[in-house]
Amino acid sequence: MKPIKVGMLGLGTVGTGVIRIVEGHQDDLQRKIGSAVEIVKVLVKDKNKPRDVSLPEEVLTEDPYEVLHHPEIDVIIEVMGGTGHAKTWMMEALRQGKQVVTANKDLMATSGSELIEEARKQQCDVLYEASVAGGIPILRTIVEGFSSDRIQKMMGIVNGTTNYILTKMSQEGASYDDVLAEAQALGYAEADPTSDVEGLDAAYKMAILGTLGFHTNVSMDDVTVKGITSVTKEDIQYGKRLGYEVKLLGIAERQDDSISLTVQPTMVKATHPLASVNGVFNAVYVYGEAVGETMFYGPGAGEMPTATSVVADLVAVCKNIKLGVSGKTGAVAYKEKKLKTDQQ
Ligand code: NAP
Ligand code: HSE
Repeated sequence: MKPIKVGMLGLGTVGTGVIRIVEGHQDDLQRKIGSAVEIVKVLVKDKNKPRDVSLPEEVLTEDPYEVLHHPEIDVIIEVMGGTGHAKTWMMEALRQGKQVVTANKDLMATSGSELIEEARKQQCDVLYEASVAGGIPILRTIVEGFSSDRIQKMMGIVNGTTNYILTKMSQEGASYDDVLAEAQALGYAEADPTSDVEGLDAAYKMAILGTLGFHTNVSMDDVTVKGITSVTKEDIQYGKRLGYEVKLLGIAERQDDSISLTVQPTMVKATHPLASVNGVFNAVYVYGEAVGETMFYGPGAGEMPTATSVVADLVAVCKNIKLGVSGKTGAVAYKEKKLKTDQQ
């Protein structure tokens, strides 16, 4: 069977994990897909930078054209981040008829519908499971698992960096700056960690969850955002004495024909399951009209958890290629009527 050829944009924290999984699980992937998966080109900024994975010399390139216009590449995995080049190159990949997998929440929250529309036009898939809650397969769960229900409310601890910081401040009395530096060294934080600590990263994720969970088109303007930069050790200790933990909580709620979306530091009762989500772990609580309360928990950032979700999407697009149904399954893509929000 002809191998499925893959090009990657980026080889940082997540990209490195993707290579490790594709190499380490090759037999398993081949059994699931029915073909081998071969990573043939990887775009980086600096080819000479030391890497944690070794690839044949000819695989690394600094020229996006070599990846996007490679005649044999079927799938492009975008794990470079940002909304500039990443968008241009993902659009180009789709125009070239390539399937796209991405971990980029900034881009999917701000330009997701444009990318999905282009994908539809080209009969391609664009999948983005890793963009929300790292290793938790939450987007598939929301779209497929809840397809029989009507979601009323979602509450999420969806940023690993801030949860890591708040946990260390709460449990060890650590200082904000020290823990942020640790989260960066562990590969949890964004290239610019302002997005994490100011709540924007969580807001992108809540916008994606809102879009999929409420079948509407949530934009960033619909989300009220406050980060954790003004939370002090004293606030956290005060909360603890009253029986609460401080968490950066995203809340998306349906109210008749409108929705409300917020991200802010919140006192969560110590007895609530979300209060014991610690460190880099994330959790998404989903209340469905029929099912009632559910909660999904797992590592929310970092190399291998995030790569697990990226490679799960890779398997899905490869299966679609094999079945000849690319762009037809609509696994995690919505663009429907807009509900009113608090901000309108
Ligand atoms: P990262 O470690 O900073 O890696 C970025 C990679 O992209 C690097 O290999 C870099 O090349 C390459 N790159 C960046 N800009 C480029 C450009 N203009 N041209 C060519 N190459 C470029 O980032 P990451 O943490 O892996 O995150 C990647 C994406 O995954 C982001 O969208 C992020 O939000 C998302 N994500 C990350 C996590 C996580 O835990 N880290 C979790 C979920 C989602 P060099 O190596 O040569 O510098
Ligand atoms: N910076 C993000 C976080 C990465 O800390 O949650 C995972 O999306």
